[in-house]
Amino acid sequence: MIKSILAIETSCDDTSVAIIRHDGWVEAMVSANQDLVHAVFGGVVPEIASRNHTLTLLPLVEECLNKSQKKWSDIDGIAVTSRPGLLGSLMVGVVTAKTLALTHDIPFIGVNHLEGHLLAPFLEDELYKPKVSLKALIAEEQPYLALAISGGHTQLYDVTAPHQYKILGRTVDDAAGEAFDKLAKMLGLPFPGGVAVDRLSQGGQRDLYAFPRPMIHEHHYNFSFSGLKTSALRLIEKMSKEEVEKNKSNICASYQEAIVDVLISRLDKAQKEYQYENIVLTGGVSANSRLREKTQEWALKNDLTLLVPPLKYCTDNAAMIGLAGILRLNRGERSEQDHAPLASSLPNDFIQEAGAK
Ligand code: KG4
Ligand code: ZN
Repeated sequence: MIKSILAIETSCDDTSVAIIRHDGWVEAMVSANQDLVHAVFGGVVPEIASRNHTLTLLPLVEECLNKSQKKWSDIDGIAVTSRPGLLGSLMVGVVTAKTLALTHDIPFIGVNHLEGHLLAPFLEDELYKPKVSLKALIAEEQPYLALAISGGHTQLYDVTAPHQYKILGRTVDDAAGEAFDKLAKMLGLPFPGGVAVDRLSQGGQRDLYAFPRPMIHEHHYNFSFSGLKTSALRLIEKMSKEEVEKNKSNICASYQEAIVDVLISRLDKAQKEYQYENIVLTGGVSANSRLREKTQEWALKNDLTLLVPPLKYCTDNAAMIGLAGILRLNRGERSEQDHAPLASSLPNDFIQEAGAK
């Protein structure tokens, strides 16, 4: 059995390294974000992101080993995000993982980044223990409903077991995170936009502007956010600069409420149809305070268990990749030295539900 692995995440602009035990215990995790580097451009610049990964990754590997007080002889394998993501960024992680695996004569596995997000709530450390363990869910054969929401993805999954992920629905245009980031850009808020919109919304009026709730009454599990974005653009174009400035928090609060309502409507529909008892929110957007509050209310009302990882495991991190990787390695899976990074998922990574685009 593989007992401990080192995991690497470099799919976008976060460089992260973690050491994970087979039961999901996080021995150590160290990360470096590049927000300041990309902020001047108002978004992630792929070439700059990969160059920064090359600078920070190996020092982070050293730091993680030191922090966990482990030696290479304690590490039985390596997991790395190999898809989907920015190709240049993924390349840095994958080449480093392969080299370390060869050097230390241990197996490695390339992991789908989204699988990491789906398992993130089941990580454990001194400060965080999941309300339900993954082991218990598997033993009871209880599928859970997971909403993975980030800057690049908005997908609703039925998870029967680690490696059995069925896509119930997904965004047909922008991701939820992109919708937040685009409003932030329109309002001249700092990058990354989601955090800024969340913060400004706190003092704002949620029902001042009637933003659309696309697809909320439709009988499928897909999402659409581009109409919402256009509607915000039209509103802002019609207002004077002073009016926009005065109403920034009202615009943010009303717009955020529309996104939250759309997300919860799909969760509610799937829960009612399939009777899930455990619900997972994961990905960078699950850090949103209003979404957490409203989903919690919804879960309480419907007597459901809501699992939301702490912030450090919500956003991109290596610990979640480690958990996905160690479960696969312990099922006997291995990646070979010709394993290549990919910008998109592999067809077999997820089961497609009819109706999901
Ligand atoms: O999962 P993640 O760290 O990276 C991707 O895989 O994309 O998600 C990043 C996204 C960004 O769009 C960011 O604006 C959004 O998550 N985000 C938030 C909040 N914190 C991060 N969106 C809304 N509210 C937040 N508090
Ligand atoms: Zn992510």
